[in-house]
Amino acid sequence: MQLYDKYILPKLVHLACSRNPNMRQREKIIPLAAGRVLEIGVGSGLNLQFYNPDKVTRLWGLDPSMEMWRTAQSGTLASPIDFEHLQSSAEDIPLADETVDTVVMTYTLCTIPDPLKALREMGRVLVPHGKLLFCEHAKAPDRRVYNWQRWLNPIWKNIAGGCNLNRDISALITEGGFKITDLDTLYLPGWKPASYNVWGQAVKKSV
Ligand SMILES: C[S@@+](CC[C@H](N)C(=O)[O-])C[C@H]1O[C@@H](n2cnc3c(N)ncnc32)[C@H](O)[C@@H]1O
Repeated sequence: MQLYDKYILPKLVHLACSRNPNMRQREKIIPLAAGRVLEIGVGSGLNLQFYNPDKVTRLWGLDPSMEMWRTAQSGTLASPIDFEHLQSSAEDIPLADETVDTVVMTYTLCTIPDPLKALREMGRVLVPHGKLLFCEHAKAPDRRVYNWQRWLNPIWKNIAGGCNLNRDISALITEGGFKITDLDTLYLPGWKPASYNVWGQAVKKSV
């Protein structure tokens, strides 16, 4: 692993993901999680403070990057929720079928190398009426912003740890076996190519 990826990138990603507008997005979605919860791409644990300990009985934080997890601030795990970090990829989740009530994913589907395989894995571990809660930056609806996203993506992907600016998140979630039941969108304040946010809830299509 190159020095940049190991020492600099995790800190930059943590800083970018800690911006106030992004933290406000987390506050909207994370408290909805209940039961046994699997967070995909837990990163530096920025969502952990927003889980409701009265509703969450067990929490797994999955991420292949221990460098991201080591960036977690002290106090991240202050909550009394039973937590386990899983060093794994979303394309191969080390949990049995139908053992999770809520899957949570924030600012991560942009980076997962095989997003459809990962979504099918999320569907596999979710109980039949389980929920996928998501908040992601996505392909912008405006042609001008989208053109910038497409143009910048090859450079951005290289410097931002594999993050894609132009993924159509809602379409991927649907194609990955989910039905979106609740969807909100907004340009957050900040750099336009990475600021169009989509967030909401989805259930497995088979339900
Ligand atoms: C931009 S960070 C977001 C971190 C965190 N979800 C947040 O909201 O702050 C993207 C995260 O996706 C993780 N990631 C990359 N590839 C992944 C994969 N195949 N499966 C699961 N997580 C992955 C990265 O290690 C990183 O922690």
